[in-house]
Amino acid sequence: MSDVAKLTMPDGKEITLPAYTGTEQEKCLDISALRKETGYVTFDPGFGNTCPSKSSITFLNGEAGILRYRGYSIEDLCEKSDFTSVMYLVIYGELPSEAELAEFNKNLAEHSKIKPQLLKLYESLPQDTHPMVLVSTMLAGLSAHYPQFTNPHDTDQVEQAIFIALGQILPIVSSAYCHGKGKEFNYPSEPISSYGSGLLKMMFGDDYEVDTDVEKILDELLILHADHEFNCSTSTARIVGSSQANLFASLSASVNALWGPLHGGANQKVIEMLEDIANDGGVEAIDKYLAMAKDKTSGFRLMGFGHRVYKNYDPRAKIIKKTCDKVIEKLGVEDPLLAVAQKLEAAALSDEYFTSRKLYPNVDFYSGIVYRALNIPTEMYTPLFALGRLCGWIAHWREQNLDPHARIGRPRQLYMGATERSL
Ligand code: ACO
Repeated sequence: MSDVAKLTMPDGKEITLPAYTGTEQEKCLDISALRKETGYVTFDPGFGNTCPSKSSITFLNGEAGILRYRGYSIEDLCEKSDFTSVMYLVIYGELPSEAELAEFNKNLAEHSKIKPQLLKLYESLPQDTHPMVLVSTMLAGLSAHYPQFTNPHDTDQVEQAIFIALGQILPIVSSAYCHGKGKEFNYPSEPISSYGSGLLKMMFGDDYEVDTDVEKILDELLILHADHEFNCSTSTARIVGSSQANLFASLSASVNALWGPLHGGANQKVIEMLEDIANDGGVEAIDKYLAMAKDKTSGFRLMGFGHRVYKNYDPRAKIIKKTCDKVIEKLGVEDPLLAVAQKLEAAALSDEYFTSRKLYPNVDFYSGIVYRALNIPTEMYTPLFALGRLCGWIAHWREQNLDPHARIGRPRQLYMGATERSL
């Protein structure tokens, strides 16, 4: 088969576009010379067909429901690995050996204390500030407190910045929780055994007894959020980083991108929607909410449903749904929202509007029910997503930073405004 495509322009001129095939047989046309050769740009709202660069971190096939980090399936990683190893894998490309993991853990532990002056930043912010504001602000603040690690051209500085961000994200997320509760933030007295247990101890207190099954479940949730190729917040890390802004600044921007309800903020919105349904008659009200979701004038969407790339059941949601059942059983929780969620899912999946548009539950649909069972408040769900995704943002920022062909991200517009006028 030819490795070029031919394109006939409106003036009849024919040009050739190089055609590439990715390692997973995905097809791609190279339009990078199009404007130079023809004067044309391409129109692609929401970047649905645009690859700004090559990448070797994550592969997903939305039709087949496949998600792999560096070639390993999320199912295998959840079963046989742990979140710290997955962070290492996503960032550096290989699962760590025992010695590499020990060294990585040591580096993270050494950088895991937030400078007291940075923690004081909370004093200037109201107690009801959304924790995503706090997480983003604290990450941005790292640039001020570690200016010696902000040169993207210095590999050693970048490595230190990675350890600082990964080491401090746990106390950053946990202290954001404590700020909202008006309680003092403390570090655990013993070294933490995992991000999951560290999180529970930093949020709920040093004497919180961490159940090993719960620890495993949190680890699994973090693994499932670790990366998702060029989604909105990851593309943000890449585009901010493309201007050679430092790592901390880029990560802070990603947190803000994640916060939106169409992206990571959906996990909070799902629970708020399920609560609305529960308070509005419970399962009896489901038809009303489905009708609203189908009505384009209502401004309401079924939160936790639909995805730009998954046109099949989101493989992360499949695992989380099972985890949800396990958690509910293990903790003996009776959550009326679970029944609403299950009935809502079943109703949507047998409704022509959703099936014809291939709208399935996404990663955010059941994760909130799991967090609720662990007594984690709703506004913390998106910060937990950020905790898991930080390694993905770092991996993408680093991949781009090491790419000698990387260029500043700068899309074009199709200008439709006024032509020149005089005053
Ligand atoms: N409820 C109702 N209708 C929907 C939904 C939904 N949740 N999602 C998509 N649709 C409809 C659209 O209205 C559109 O209908 P049309 O063809 O009649 O115009 C069709 O399905 C295609 O949807 P798009 O908006 O083109 O899908 P897009 O890829 O742009 O958006 C998104 C994807 C933002 C995730 C969307 O499905 C959505 O808003 N879902 C709800 C929010 C959500 O759960 N976000 C989390 C996503 S996962 C993540 O980012 C971590």
